[in-house]
Amino acid sequence: ACSSAQNKRDFVECLTIQFQSSNSAPVGIIYTPRNASYASLLLSYNRRPTSTSPERPQLIITPFHESEIQAAIYCSRKLGLQIRVRSGGHDYEGLSYTSENPFVTVDMRNIRLVLIDNDEKTAWVQVGATLGELYHTLARNSKTLAFTAGVCPPVGVGGHFSGGGYGMMSRKHALAADNIIDAKLINANGQVLDRKSMGEDLFWAIRGGGGTSFGIVLAFKVKLVTVPEIVTVFNVSRTLEQNATQLVHRWQYIADKVDENLLLRLFLRSVRSAIHGNRTIQAYFTTLFLGRVPDLLPLMQDSFPELGLVEQDCIEMSWIESTLFFAGFRNESLDVLLIRTPQIIIYFKGKSDYVTQPIPVQGLRGIWRFLNEEVENNAELQFSPYGGVLNTFSESETPFPHRAGNIFMIHSSVQWTRGGTAEYERHMNWIRRLYSYMGRYVSRSPRAAYFNYRDLDIGRNAGRNTSYEQANVWGFKYFKNNFKRLVRVKSMVDPSNFFRNEQSVPPLSLS
Ligand code: FDA
Repeated sequence: ACSSAQNKRDFVECLTIQFQSSNSAPVGIIYTPRNASYASLLLSYNRRPTSTSPERPQLIITPFHESEIQAAIYCSRKLGLQIRVRSGGHDYEGLSYTSENPFVTVDMRNIRLVLIDNDEKTAWVQVGATLGELYHTLARNSKTLAFTAGVCPPVGVGGHFSGGGYGMMSRKHALAADNIIDAKLINANGQVLDRKSMGEDLFWAIRGGGGTSFGIVLAFKVKLVTVPEIVTVFNVSRTLEQNATQLVHRWQYIADKVDENLLLRLFLRSVRSAIHGNRTIQAYFTTLFLGRVPDLLPLMQDSFPELGLVEQDCIEMSWIESTLFFAGFRNESLDVLLIRTPQIIIYFKGKSDYVTQPIPVQGLRGIWRFLNEEVENNAELQFSPYGGVLNTFSESETPFPHRAGNIFMIHSSVQWTRGGTAEYERHMNWIRRLYSYMGRYVSRSPRAAYFNYRDLDIGRNAGRNTSYEQANVWGFKYFKNNFKRLVRVKSMVDPSNFFRNEQSVPPLSLS
């Protein structure tokens, strides 16, 4: 405790000297656990489901200017205290604000401008912006210039874009990372680089390989996408009694092949039947169509008549209204997109898988048994379709390798509200057993995983001196052969492994 207090004092002193020398005022940007706002700054959607209590940051720094980040990097180097970067704080394993080692968190929430260039159809988006803030700014600017990224408004641009970024337009416009055309980043030496000065290798790495291993990203420049003034959405649910098993089975044969303007996402959960009161499985089809109802209905009739979609199921709206719709808001003003603080705080564990061959009916029935084991509505599987434009990228074009050949991605998750080891063990055990069961139905060699759904169960670094072989256990799953290039880039730009965490790319020199 004494040395940690000393660490903190030294760090604050070092920062103060640095700030003075750069003429910036450090007022209100350094928070220790004694500050009243420290706890609220740390609030995140996901309370860490851990039995081992990792450390909280000794300090949280909320810079407004890049010079303050440079100062933090300098002091971290000088004092040997690790840095973690946090943009939206939605990391599945909390790696932006927890660690097993003493550390400080640089929280980017004050660096969040969105600057749109209508002529170029591009935008510079600072990393501390949330997806909701980005969508809100785009909607105020135009009805038809939009961006392709995830569905949850408080997710941060920094982690989301650098790790991929899948959303309801990804079959038409690919991932957030696929649309990045420039970036600003501070490297381990404190230099501010753009695409030209960082070079194409580093620029490649931060478009899907995660920013965190390579530097602190300040902003991304992205290509905006053009959407129709009116789009169509629908949510249609079917229970087992309404033929859900056959529908889900059939969905696997069309989801990646239908018109790329159509993204039919599927959520599976166990619910209580309104008819007989027993538990049943609900298949919830949630869809965005980049077009109007008269064009959607014949498409659905051709490709998925079994669902029985009718005009009354469909709602026409603007693209920005669809972002509210998929985030679960009904009739609220657009300003709900600006809410940064988590509305619910839960314990949560998620995992991902990729499916290259349809899961047989018998396999689906096995999944239903798992879902029925968990408390009603606590557990969920999301099936997110691939195909469309995602197939047109080669596996190595960006570090994100999950391209042609994948029908859909599975996201399985469980959440709970009561703390304590017994609860933790029970839910973690459930999701690990489900993962083990799913092994026979999903991709192999590697059993691929999505980096933005970070999962420390698939492997973790052993410490500062993690070898390539150790890291390759998880790295190959997230990045396939791209992991080798990520390691080469890391070795070039951060050979001393200054930026590191439990799943950061290690430099070769250390292995
Ligand atoms: P956070 O700030 O925790 O950062 C995540 C990681 O990126 C950490 O390792 C951090 O150090 C690093 N990092 C953050 N900012 C950085 C910066 N400026 N420079 C360098 N490194 C930086 N995904 C998806 O594809 N589609 C979706 O629809 C959703 N939806 C969704 C909903 C909810 C409720 C959650 C919790 C998560 C998602 N995700 C998702 C996953 C999400 O994309 C993923 O967790 C992102 O990494 C979150 O980015 P944040 O900036 O919010 O997290």
